[in-house]
Amino acid sequence: MASVMWPPLRVGQGENELVIRVATADDIPTLARWDVDPDVIAATSDDPNAKHAFDGTNWPQEIAANSDVSCYYIVELAGRPIAGMQVIDPHLEPTHYWGEVETGLRAIDIWIGERGDRNGGHGARMMNAVMAQCFADASVNAIIIDPLNSNRDAHRFYQRLGFKVVGRRFFEKDDCLVHRLTRQDWEQRHGA
Ligand SMILES: CC(C)(COP(=O)(O)OP(=O)(O)OC[C@H]1O[C@@H](n2cnc3c(N)ncnc32)[C@H](O)[C@@H]1OP(=O)(O)O)[C@@H](O)C(=O)NCCC(=O)NCCS
Repeated sequence: MASVMWPPLRVGQGENELVIRVATADDIPTLARWDVDPDVIAATSDDPNAKHAFDGTNWPQEIAANSDVSCYYIVELAGRPIAGMQVIDPHLEPTHYWGEVETGLRAIDIWIGERGDRNGGHGARMMNAVMAQCFADASVNAIIIDPLNSNRDAHRFYQRLGFKVVGRRFFEKDDCLVHRLTRQDWEQRHGA
């Protein structure tokens, strides 16, 4: 079975170098700090009174559960952690968050933890590296994502990367706008 847990990915050099590596227990304080960033909270909940992103996720448990079907990553910019990512096989991961979905998919989450690190192109570079890694696995046919329907900035971001809208879907109370990037669209854009 193909795994979603990879060795570190490196993009760029010097002060622009991004390293995307598996999250460890040492990263828990950083993840907890990003959980109280107002934009990360707004990206994960439509509740105006929410105080924590990801509905109070238990990071020690999440990190300990990293596996071949669901894995958290930390992205470092020139050695400084700036973002979290999660890559899952939605067909196989144990929470079945996506419900009944076909095989051959990956789902990705991304959040840059602090305002000063956003809008500089880093998110696009991270996503492109992770998408390339996903599609390097010949069994992967498409990547799916589930931004909140209210997160218009994220929709622009994903659509610039080639994702297309599938439609609105509720994941429990979260009103999301599911997007999908097919292998065919990816290969057309990247000349494969
Ligand atoms: C969504 C997110 C991952 C995008 O990453 P990012 O690094 O900010 O994205 P980019 O920099 O590639 O693009 C964002 C904007 O910056 C602009 N930009 C990119 N590089 C730039 C540069 N060098 N100078 C000025 N502007 C730039 C882009 O054109 C884009 O403009 P837009 O707002 O008009 O669409 C990030 O903003 C984030 O984590 N937000 C909070 C959490 C979140 O929403 N996560 C997604 C949940 S589904």
